[in-house]
Amino acid sequence: MNGAQFKKIADLLYRDSGIVLSEAKRSLLVARLNKRLRTLNMADYGAYCDRLEGPDGVEERRHLLSALTTNVTAFFREMHHFTSLTEEVLPPMILEARRGRRLRLWSAACSSGEEPYSIAMTLLDAFPEAPQHDILILATDIDPLMVDRARQGRYGPEALQAVAAARRDKYFARAEGGFEARPALRHCMRFGELNLHDAWPFAGKFDVIFCRNAAIYFDTPSRQRLWHRFGQALVPGGSLYVGHSERLDGPACPYFETAGTTHYRRNAQPIPALPA
Ligand SMILES: C[S@@+](CC[C@H](N)C(=O)[O-])C[C@H]1O[C@@H](n2cnc3c(N)ncnc32)[C@H](O)[C@@H]1O
Repeated sequence: MNGAQFKKIADLLYRDSGIVLSEAKRSLLVARLNKRLRTLNMADYGAYCDRLEGPDGVEERRHLLSALTTNVTAFFREMHHFTSLTEEVLPPMILEARRGRRLRLWSAACSSGEEPYSIAMTLLDAFPEAPQHDILILATDIDPLMVDRARQGRYGPEALQAVAAARRDKYFARAEGGFEARPALRHCMRFGELNLHDAWPFAGKFDVIFCRNAAIYFDTPSRQRLWHRFGQALVPGGSLYVGHSERLDGPACPYFETAGTTHYRRNAQPIPALPA
């Protein structure tokens, strides 16, 4: 892949998804696309670039996005969600937790863990006494390797660049090759493997669900079914955060209000059971 081809693909990806592919990711891009080229029986990236802009371009860009974004994540990705947590969502929840109510937050497609650790830092900044209360942040993903990485909580310096040094040092200790989440940060966190399309093993309801940049890969019926199940899993007033290119759609819509950009709040209307 030459420089012009890389730039063309990176520009298309940025236009479609807002994801920035730096030059350092060129070999990753090649590694991810080689299989796709073989499937398409294409000999070079020139032909692939033509396809991206040809009649099958829209469909092909979807393949490109999913080849590249499968596990892409970052600390404080889509920062406005963490601002909304700090300013609007957590304060009333913390008041209730102080009165003894349990709180449950769920990062439902957590990849390598940057999202749930960002939630945990946001929570602990706002509520340092959280570990003394019944509060859990659940972090799940379909990919067992990602769940393991999330559980380990070890990150290189580049991954933690998005976290201010003071905050990073408060919640992460220096470890070989980078940083490791401190026990105080992990205290409220639990990790597990979970396919969102399977049954969920939870007894109680959630106050906050993050399901960002995963439903985008699902077809319409499974995505809409997922929104409905989130509606059933949230307490009235509970928050659902979805990814930047995702929108709540389908039969679950009447059970949510829009609360911000890609942020939905469960209303008090009872939600019917899903047909089997
Ligand atoms: C692009 S990452 C998103 C990570 C994080 N939520 C974020 O927005 O930064 C998508 C994640 O969704 C997970 N995923 C895809 N299909 C899933 C499914 N059916 N159930 C659970 N997780 C799934 C992938 O394994 C991947 O880790």
